[in-house]
Amino acid sequence: MKKHKYVWPHITKRTVKAVISQLEKGEISIYNRSGIFETFENRFANLYRTKYALLVSSGTAALHTAMVACKFQDGDEVICPAYTFFATVTPLFQTGATPVLCDSGKDGNIDPKKIEELITSKTKGLIITHMWGMPCDMDKIVKICKKHNLRLIEDCSHAHGAIYKGKTVGTFGDVGVFSLQGQKIITGGEGGILITNDREIYERSLLFGHYNKRCKQEIKPDSSYYSYATTGFGLKLRAHPLATAIANEQLDHLKDWHKIMNANARYFATLLKDVSLVKIPEFKDSIEPSWYAFLIQIDSTKLKISTKELCDKLIENGIPEADMPGSTCPLNYHKIFQDPSLLYPSYRDKVKYKVGDFPIAERFFENAIKFPIDIYDTKSYRKVIERYSEIIKKTIKQYSLS
Ligand SMILES: Cc1ncc(COP(=O)(O)O)c(C=O)c1O
Repeated sequence: MKKHKYVWPHITKRTVKAVISQLEKGEISIYNRSGIFETFENRFANLYRTKYALLVSSGTAALHTAMVACKFQDGDEVICPAYTFFATVTPLFQTGATPVLCDSGKDGNIDPKKIEELITSKTKGLIITHMWGMPCDMDKIVKICKKHNLRLIEDCSHAHGAIYKGKTVGTFGDVGVFSLQGQKIITGGEGGILITNDREIYERSLLFGHYNKRCKQEIKPDSSYYSYATTGFGLKLRAHPLATAIANEQLDHLKDWHKIMNANARYFATLLKDVSLVKIPEFKDSIEPSWYAFLIQIDSTKLKISTKELCDKLIENGIPEADMPGSTCPLNYHKIFQDPSLLYPSYRDKVKYKVGDFPIAERFFENAIKFPIDIYDTKSYRKVIERYSEIIKKTIKQYSLS
């Protein structure tokens, strides 16, 4: 069988055409809400049924913008997942607010029970990540935020198009944030976007990274923010029009890809369901993950080798895409969350985590192996999934203690 090679993103003739057409328009820097920015933001806002969508230069910039728009500041505490990509949390260091990390539940997502235990009179907000495209427990999370009057930012960088009980993730809180970086389901190579229904959050977001023309165009003269329109906060975090042209073409496919990836993931899960020492993601009728990656958990206590070594064996045995996430790890593994003082002296006594602080997140991370889910709805791709399942089964059997 011809070896399947997973390549992301899918750059097709249509993608190339979209970029060339943008170049031919001569719009490679856009100062206001027009052209490809307007098109993409309108489409994104319509897709998510939100009032506002705002493109920025990266997912990290979108998170930073959202934190400033929510007015997180010195003296505030913001509860954040202990297990996420670090940029979900690191922009908080720029605001003066203290990140309070919260351990995961068994699915790797932030554990709502533990969130409640961390709330104090200083808690101002909650940031969550729908890890690997699996929606968090939004019923519980929204309830907690309402009860304690917390701002909620959803990091949906893994979760473009994921649905929780009929509602797309990114629309449960005050702001939904998406990276459009090269590996993401919708990508421009680099870029980010945020969505909100809150006018003040939108105006502050505009001012944070889109000074002058765009602020003057969109912030009304009767807004108290209007007098800052020329300079905004003083930063520029605009998206690139060529990147947006790529993302705009990708967006045409989101609904179809979502359907196919869900079917492929379900098929993979069916094949792995009875493999010993493997725990597959939990499937629920009301939840449609986006399958940024398909993660399995390995019971390494019953293996002769570590999960990392098992992953290497899977690669050797014919699954080149088998992977253990690297920098997307428990945040207490990073120096910046152990002792940020050399970078951010004012955080010396505020942030002091150590390895071992988040046992569930750490166990989840140490025993996770991830696989990509591709967008092919073909017999030959199903055969790839079947071959991968066989390799997983055989390799685990070979190294199993029993
Ligand atoms: C969960 C999560 N949040 C934020 C980001 C940051 O996005 P960007 O790389 O576009 O800045 C990433 C990127 O990998 C991510 O995975």
